[in-house]
Amino acid sequence: MSAAHVPLIERWRERLPFTLGDPLISLQEGSTPLLRAPVLSEMVGATVRLKLEGANPTGSFKDRGMTCAVSAAVREGARAVLCASTGNTAASAAAYAARARITCAVIVPEGKIAQGKLAQTLIHGARVISLAGNFDQALTLVRELTDKHPIVLVNSVNDFRIEGQKTAALEIVEELDCGLDALCIPVGNAGNITSYWRGFKEMGCSPRLFGFQAQGAAPLVEGARVEHPETVASAIRIGNPVRWEDAMAATTESRGAIRAVSDSEILAAFRLLASREGMFCEPASAASVAGLLKYGPDGAREVVCVLTGRGLKDPETAIAHNDGRVIPCPPEIGPVEEAILGDGQ
Ligand code: F0G
Repeated sequence: MSAAHVPLIERWRERLPFTLGDPLISLQEGSTPLLRAPVLSEMVGATVRLKLEGANPTGSFKDRGMTCAVSAAVREGARAVLCASTGNTAASAAAYAARARITCAVIVPEGKIAQGKLAQTLIHGARVISLAGNFDQALTLVRELTDKHPIVLVNSVNDFRIEGQKTAALEIVEELDCGLDALCIPVGNAGNITSYWRGFKEMGCSPRLFGFQAQGAAPLVEGARVEHPETVASAIRIGNPVRWEDAMAATTESRGAIRAVSDSEILAAFRLLASREGMFCEPASAASVAGLLKYGPDGAREVVCVLTGRGLKDPETAIAHNDGRVIPCPPEIGPVEEAILGDGQ
């Protein structure tokens, strides 16, 4: 069996807190491609690769952590899981809970979650609570609720999430040894950057970690909570990351940094990835590439940008922000010919 056909927990069992015989809730996550990006490489003067986390079963990196969090919850006898989410954690929790035949509830910020993620969460059968508030408020509420009720919290405060997500770093080391100089990654609640650093450290490697937040939601850059975070990259619209200290430790220890990119820089990278590299990711994912383009590789020769989720998650943003256009046409050869071959005026 190739690595791609092994559940993540089975593949990395010696490095994860699970033993043979533990319940294993898997959708065959992980083992995602590391794709060379020739256009970006040329633009920044370094070898750039993209870690395609959108290739996971629900379309984002969350599945790595969720297979662990839900398997552990089932091992403890839990009947229900709960999370706050900007969308991807919700979709992933809903899918793994469905697979485990347990209940899932999610709290999402009203009107601020991409359609694809909402569709996934609903079709998997989760109870969706639309909060008249933001992600940070939702997270405070789920922490309070899980203290009071026998429901397992599956946000990245749950260490099983971090354990699972560190496997992305293990895969990179498996492919590149310790040859990686820098990792560029979007930062929201800061669980993922924490996970990568744990994974790299366990493997004895120390690439520099560069985390990127959206300018309107950049508490780690400003050094203070953001009361009303705003960004087109709804996945990382977070003003008070739960893994704040861990993220700062990861960037300090790795001699990296957390930096900000504007919405227009994020959208430019989003379009560039799709139109020049053939890779359609969601806007939050493009923050990693926007950061690399804005700040440069800083001397790094081998760079990996993490594309955390796939573009189909958020079709509205892609339709609203692209350089193409849809040409209406009657069903006759002349106008069709003109539409295809004409100068587009
Ligand atoms: N990229 C995507 C596509 C995400 O969905 C998230 C987080 C991040 C990056 C940032 O990762 O939070 O570990 O720093 N999404 C969470 C959610 C908050 O609820 O789906 P992080």
